[in-house]
Amino acid sequence: MGATVGQIGKVLGLHVVGIAGGPEKCSHVVDTLGFDACIDYKAEGFPDALKAAVPEGIDIYYENVGGAVFDAVMPLLNTLARIPVCGLISQYNATSLPDGPDRLSLLMGTILRKRMTLRGFIVFDDFGHLYTEFAEQMGAWVSDGKVKYREEMIQGLERAPEAFIGLLEGEAFGKRVVKLRD
Ligand SMILES: NC(=O)c1ccc[n+]([C@@H]2O[C@H](COP(=O)([O-])OP(=O)(O)OC[C@H]3O[C@@H](n4cnc5c(N)ncnc54)[C@H](OP(=O)(O)O)[C@@H]3O)[C@@H](O)[C@H]2O)c1
Repeated sequence: MGATVGQIGKVLGLHVVGIAGGPEKCSHVVDTLGFDACIDYKAEGFPDALKAAVPEGIDIYYENVGGAVFDAVMPLLNTLARIPVCGLISQYNATSLPDGPDRLSLLMGTILRKRMTLRGFIVFDDFGHLYTEFAEQMGAWVSDGKVKYREEMIQGLERAPEAFIGLLEGEAFGKRVVKLRD
């Protein structure tokens, strides 16, 4: 998702900074996908590295993960920033609210002071009617080489559970697809 969104951002002429886990994925994001920069969220000093990569702040943050990544992003958001809330993958295994101070008032205060817009969406419920248009546009970008994708094939339904657990541990490199049969 993030790889595709960032490439669409580049097609639209935006300055795009990716966030990915590990140096190999970050190199791929910049060298192959064409992002302007990519910051490793697993590396020490991640919040400072992210701050240095966005000297003019962040106008659009595409939220896929939540948690510590959002904590690093929040102070860097510009006035009138927009946040499409697509997913919160770092939180899916959580069984309780996190320890530590309640930061809800910090978030609400930031939304108020910076007049930010957050909007959650469920892609096919909200935008399914645009699928044909999407397929035409994305098809053209893919054939022109403007948008690239990477898939990781897992053979057999019996391997789906381990593939899914690994996905939630950030072990996938590209879209993980379970292939049922030839
Ligand atoms: N709203 C909707 O309709 C909709 C539809 C589909 C998916 N989603 C959501 O959109 C998000 C992206 O989906 P996807 O299909 O692109 O998934 P994906 O291909 O599995 O990618 C998820 C990426 O999340 C990163 N990640 C995992 N755990 C993390 C953590 N603790 N902290 C930071 N990053 C972490 C990993 O990045 P690295 O590999 O770089 O570590 C992983 O590659 C997910 O949250 C998913 O649930 C929403």
